[in-house]
Amino acid sequence: MLNDHATLQLQIEESLQQHLPTNSQIAQPMLNAMTYAVMGGGKRLRPMLVCAGSEAFGGDYNSALPAGCAFEFIHAYSLIHDDLPSMDDDELRHGRPSTHVAFGEATAILAGDSLHSLAFQSISEAANISPASKLNIISLLSKAAGWPGMSGGQCLDIEAEGKLLSLTELEMLHAAKTGALIKSALEVGALCAEADTSSTAYKAIGEFGAKIGLAFQVVDDILDVTQTNEVLGKPAGSDEGLNKNTFPRLLGLDESKKKAENLLQEALALLEQSDLKTPLLEMLAYRAVHRTF
Ligand code: IPE
Ligand code: IPE
Ligand code: MG
Ligand code: MG
Ligand code: MG
Repeated sequence: MLNDHATLQLQIEESLQQHLPTNSQIAQPMLNAMTYAVMGGGKRLRPMLVCAGSEAFGGDYNSALPAGCAFEFIHAYSLIHDDLPSMDDDELRHGRPSTHVAFGEATAILAGDSLHSLAFQSISEAANISPASKLNIISLLSKAAGWPGMSGGQCLDIEAEGKLLSLTELEMLHAAKTGALIKSALEVGALCAEADTSSTAYKAIGEFGAKIGLAFQVVDDILDVTQTNEVLGKPAGSDEGLNKNTFPRLLGLDESKKKAENLLQEALALLEQSDLKTPLLEMLAYRAVHRTF
């Protein structure tokens, strides 16, 4: 299984590289920043979830890779913007200067904009996915990345700095800013395998994704408190410095760890009940929660 995981990671790295533009007469610095942000590291969790979702519904990785890359492009763009001085003002990402530090703010913002568009281009040009499924995928990803999902959650995250959210509000924040992309990565994987969106299995993979997505951000909050810059490759303690709403702040470290573990167990139980259990899905769920960076 570990080998499968490593092979899939390599396939994803190759596919990302192939989808990225390399030459432009008008915007070479921006293209360089896009490549810097995407190819500079990262666990590639979201494309792996797309591939794993597809496999669970009988599809193959190759058909799912373009959609997987689309999720990584949206994710990379969200990290460029998240690190900007007007947002989290973090100067380290993947153990290197953040994109705006390396390329300047204007170029970094534009690289984020273009990665956002490149995501939708990658889906629309994907081979082996029916036109109807492509439309469904584009619809899902626009909602997960946009105002009801990632960027909506980022808005609440910024607006709530210095205020104290309730547990319900914090769960909504995390479900939107991080959970929405992770949940829809699994649903999109299913769509790459032409899954029936009215089936109970399709509903179950979405519920599994929502639990893993929330757990993933709870763990991100925990690691911000417990890890070092070196291990994380990004500034530890960033949340406290910005007076962010996080699970450790609201519940304490021990309760936050229990929360993440409970979500993982609930997610694994959903796989068990719905006939979707594959070694890759199980491993990715486990790794989303039990990780050091
Ligand atoms: C970090 O995501 C930002 C969050 C949404 C929590 P990841 O931890 O998946 O980032 P990389 O790509 O692996 O660095
Ligand atoms: C960011 O959450 C979530 C995004 C949508 C990018 P964080 O601000 O906690 O992510 P990190 O810790 O900087 O990676
Ligand atoms: Mg942030
Ligand atoms: Mg941040
Ligand atoms: Mg964080």
